[in-house]
Amino acid sequence: MAPDGPQYSAEPADPGAYTAANDRWYTRLARVYDVVVKVFPVWRRWLGHALPEIRGPRVLEVSFGTGWLLTRYAGRFRLDGVDLNEAMVDIARRNLDRAGLEADLRQGDVEALPYPDAAFDTVVNTMAFTGYPDGAKAAAELARVVKPGGRLVVVDIGYPRDGNRWGTGLVERVWKPAGDLIRDVPALLSDAGLDVRDDEIGGWGSVHLYVAAKPTAPTPGRAPRPARGGPQRP
Ligand SMILES: C[S@@+](CC[C@H](N)C(=O)[O-])C[C@H]1O[C@@H](n2cnc3c(N)ncnc32)[C@H](O)[C@@H]1O
Repeated sequence: MAPDGPQYSAEPADPGAYTAANDRWYTRLARVYDVVVKVFPVWRRWLGHALPEIRGPRVLEVSFGTGWLLTRYAGRFRLDGVDLNEAMVDIARRNLDRAGLEADLRQGDVEALPYPDAAFDTVVNTMAFTGYPDGAKAAAELARVVKPGGRLVVVDIGYPRDGNRWGTGLVERVWKPAGDLIRDVPALLSDAGLDVRDDEIGGWGSVHLYVAAKPTAPTPGRAPRPARGGPQRP
């Protein structure tokens, strides 16, 4: 752990500027990103942990990038996908076409998913949550489109629970300087009404698989958490 426990990132002061800067970066690097994901075995191994957790028949992947993970499971489910970056969407469509697979892929924002409430059995989200400018908004919107009894499956970066120095070092010296926003993801998903399992799957505990189930009925006695960050409203 960092000496005083996890040092979670502050949310960016200007969420629009943060997302626009990320989006420009992804436009420049989309082709390179596609190659890196295809040839970097550790990345594929991390993402692959999501696969056994996916339940159908209806699945949504949010922020699929160039779509490597989509090509691993598209044949088995009725699949939709949303990503903000146009270049990423184009490459993902091409990757699915080449594999002879189908999915309804759209360009869109995690904060305003173009689907009705409770539409999907599973929502998948890998290596993207740390790039959203408002964690609470993103968690609420991802949870909104999960069916009661369904699940949200997230792979992303977080502090190792045991505070080991290698995992903590990766968070502090690699992910944060790269611009990733490190958050208490289990708390955010729990605030969004989900029951969260948190497995450490790599990077000395700094890469996590969160499987967040949506209860079929509101959990009795679940006390709403106080709002996090920013001034408290009376
Ligand atoms: C690091 S890539 C991860 C891609 C892929 N899921 C993976 O694991 O390799 C992050 C992706 O999130 C997308 N993204 C960033 N901000 C977004 C937003 N506000 N809404 C939807 N997608 C977003 C980017 O376009 C990019 O494709």
